[in-house]
Amino acid sequence: MRVWILGSGGREHAIGWAFRKCGHDVFFVPGNAGTEATGINIPCETVEEAKRLIKERSLEIDLLIPGSEDYIAKGVADILEDKTFAPKSRPALLEASKIFAKKFMKRYGIRTARFETVESEGELEEKIKRFSPPYVLKADPLAGGKGVIIVNDKMEAIEKGKALMRGELIKGVKGGLVLDDYLKGEELSAIAVIGEKDFELLPFARDYKRAYDNDQGPNTGGMGSWAPVKIAEKTLEGIEDILERTLDGLRKEGLSYKGFLYLGLMMVEGEPYVLEYNVRLGDPETEAILPLDPEGFVEMVLSASFEGRPSVKMREESFVVDVVIASSGYPMDPKKGMEVRVEGDGLYFFAGVSRKDGKMVVSGGRVVHAVGIGRNLKEAREKAYEGASKVHFEGAFYRRDIANVYL
Ligand code: AMP
Ligand code: GLY
Repeated sequence: MRVWILGSGGREHAIGWAFRKCGHDVFFVPGNAGTEATGINIPCETVEEAKRLIKERSLEIDLLIPGSEDYIAKGVADILEDKTFAPKSRPALLEASKIFAKKFMKRYGIRTARFETVESEGELEEKIKRFSPPYVLKADPLAGGKGVIIVNDKMEAIEKGKALMRGELIKGVKGGLVLDDYLKGEELSAIAVIGEKDFELLPFARDYKRAYDNDQGPNTGGMGSWAPVKIAEKTLEGIEDILERTLDGLRKEGLSYKGFLYLGLMMVEGEPYVLEYNVRLGDPETEAILPLDPEGFVEMVLSASFEGRPSVKMREESFVVDVVIASSGYPMDPKKGMEVRVEGDGLYFFAGVSRKDGKMVVSGGRVVHAVGIGRNLKEAREKAYEGASKVHFEGAFYRRDIANVYL
């Protein structure tokens, strides 16, 4: 089967790696300098160009998997619906609009933090009085993982909220926002593979969002992950209930859903609360989940896509740890252009790398994912860190505490 994967990060590399392992022909649009060894890179600069390519070359595509939300929100699945494993643009609002998502959760009794939606600066000043610190403000539109502000001081919350609404805080992001009650607990990523008739969960994963050890520093796209996270039966029931209510709600609104659905959860006393929906696989969760059982993953996606329900579940007999090696300055202003050398022969998924004069160079903040697979978490962790120590470029850094839960 000819599988097209849209995107250029580590998640897309991991998806392509799994399909390639199962004997499929993999095409990355556009991919990166590290995906060249796994499939064929098709150059492409923008989402619009990707959409054009898909239309022009539709006969060469058997299955299309968009990696990042941008493609999905901009309607890639509206082009080749039957062959695309992703929702269309309307249900993609679950991720593309926080206001839509929060109102949707309220309508269908899905547990989430108490909230207020804010459409104007005056409303912000008024409604923030109904909250206490820490204040949580979320930009309504897509913000590439940077749209959540958590601050203790009310004046600062108002100032930052206003700047966010005016588009002065994050480039290209402006408009409404959501005020959320602050939830304290452990985070968990739950991802379902959803066909038109039924769904199945992937193994659970833990993502590390802050840039530095001990959850210090700014929020990032994710600095590492591990899987499978084991959860209590009651928690699992809570997660399945959230998914059923979500799909039921979509159906009631006349929307069908096919593709991945990611729940960013906060576990509060064993009860899952939804922090966010994503309409795609998580990054870096994917890099830790897929190596558990790449064949099972591929089978799940193919059966969900073409038969309407996943026919298997992924095996969870090993552990996987993913350590992200980032470039200095990430996430604010990562340094680029340095040569990347990888000495190890372990498992690596490449992200922010491109090719210049035949050399692999840094072209993004998260550069390489070093992945370790083991019989237990300790072994997986040791292998991941051994892999990370063999990646060299000027200014490379990574967290030392990924998956240290057993220490
Ligand atoms: P989101 O994009 O909504 O998942 O938010 C990004 C991160 O902000 C989450 O992974 C949490 O760490 C944090 N966060 C979001 N909403 C809340 C909340 N209501 N309470 C506490 N932390 C939150
Ligand atoms: N790891 C969080 C995300 O993919 O949004």
